[in-house]
Amino acid sequence: MRYHQAMDAQEVDKRFGVPGVLTFESGPGGLTRASVTTASCSGQMYLYGAHVTGFQPVGHKPVLFVSDATMYQRGKAIRGGVPVCFPWFGPHPSDKAAPSHGPARITDWELAGVDREEDALSLNLSAAFDPYQVDYRVTFGHELSMALAVRNTSESTATFESALHTYLAVGDARQVGITGLSGVEYLDKVDGTKRKTQPDQPITFTGETDRVYVDTGSACVLTDPVIGRQITVDKSGSRSTVIWNPWVDKAAAMGDFGNEEWLEMACIETANAGPNAVALAPGGVHEMSATVTLRDL
Ligand code: BG6
Repeated sequence: MRYHQAMDAQEVDKRFGVPGVLTFESGPGGLTRASVTTASCSGQMYLYGAHVTGFQPVGHKPVLFVSDATMYQRGKAIRGGVPVCFPWFGPHPSDKAAPSHGPARITDWELAGVDREEDALSLNLSAAFDPYQVDYRVTFGHELSMALAVRNTSESTATFESALHTYLAVGDARQVGITGLSGVEYLDKVDGTKRKTQPDQPITFTGETDRVYVDTGSACVLTDPVIGRQITVDKSGSRSTVIWNPWVDKAAAMGDFGNEEWLEMACIETANAGPNAVALAPGGVHEMSATVTLRDL
């Protein structure tokens, strides 16, 4: 693996900052953080992990959950926002010492460029994880769009998993419902990875939930009666959707997550995982994208 040198916040700000719209500063743990303010939203992202930690359309509450207990520390993933999981999802298949969800979320990415559109702003980041070159474009606007393009730079086929592990902020996890996956098969990670089929009803949280829905390209809609909104996670180039809430015991067992915070989040992860791992031909490019939009109830 090749890890990038961290880009200095001041230097990045001089080169890419746009007064009043985009600023870079040294955030907690000395990690370079971008703050975005457009006519349509505010947003926040760290170059460390290419990690989006904030998205808030004007007139709305924050869309993403970030734990109050997260450690902003190299070597650890930020808990919340949108971790980029790559090139594997979950534990490494054979190496127990390898980081959970791959090195992408604990790597300093390079900022390659910034694009301003009418009322949106895009940040383009890149990183190399041998044999892959990865370009990641995040657009903050009325909606949050994230597109991960993976190129196989080697001479042989390479297989990877990936996820945009979106932590959505919710009013009360016990009261949300998620639609879009009726009839879809999933691997139930809290029940011995058994293959099950989602009944024709919204997914609700009544205990620890950790499911990899497979062979699905559908959008999901989370209905939150407490905040009074619907969040849609639409996607392309993704055949898996992971639904995760740690619930009480797992929350208590995580050192970087508050005991009660499971009530405030629900993950809808745009992924290619397990049976949907991507086999990429030499020189081939695969793009996966997720778009998060809001609607008031
Ligand atoms: C989810 C996985 O995507 O991420 C869960 O399906 C896992 O199994 C969760 O517990 C959090 O993972 P981590 O490595 O960030 O603690």
